[in-house]
Amino acid sequence: MPMRVAVCVSGEGSNLQALLDGLGPDSGAEVVLVLSNRPGAGGLDRARAVGVPAEVLENHADAGEWLRRLGEHSVDLVVLAGYLKLVPPQVIARYRGRIINIHPSLLPDFGGPGMYGHQVHAAVLASGRQESGATVHLVEEEYDRGPILAQARVPVRPDDTPETLAARVLAAEHRLLPAVVRAAAARGQLVPLPVFKEHLP
Ligand code: GRF
Repeated sequence: MPMRVAVCVSGEGSNLQALLDGLGPDSGAEVVLVLSNRPGAGGLDRARAVGVPAEVLENHADAGEWLRRLGEHSVDLVVLAGYLKLVPPQVIARYRGRIINIHPSLLPDFGGPGMYGHQVHAAVLASGRQESGATVHLVEEEYDRGPILAQARVPVRPDDTPETLAARVLAAEHRLLPAVVRAAAARGQLVPLPVFKEHLP
């Protein structure tokens, strides 16, 4: 039985696309549900285009609604991929150890409330760091905390803008996230992966 994966999105859904593309029939995992807090989220269209149920939460703060929808699709693993609202604590408790998030920095640096999208990459550039990357971690009640499962590192270049750095990190995310889910499917549970070192032009 493949591992049944729900992916939660608020926006474009390019990480969702990486999962749809990267979890082939032999991967041991399949995306069975896409959830969003936003009816206009591009990720919903990506799911519908390949026949995956795409549902909009009526009330994203309602744990009962979450648990009902996840239960209806017999979800084993929940992936937050650009999901920008807080997941109700009762949902995190029910799926503890089976709910992950991807964040576009090397956590624990540049995470926490308000640190998403442009802000993350602008803060990395302002810090003068020469390396950034992406992190997949288990979700706990606090934003961007929880044990780290995998990271992908990318260089920061002297002429980077937040946009160019974001694009390099996003490309790394698209490789990292399916790798974590495939490893979970192979082992029957989420497992830490060695650090990826990306070699990108
Ligand atoms: C990604 O950078 C992800 O790390 C962050 O939000 C962005 C989502 O991009 N949490 P997309 O919607 O998957 O294209």
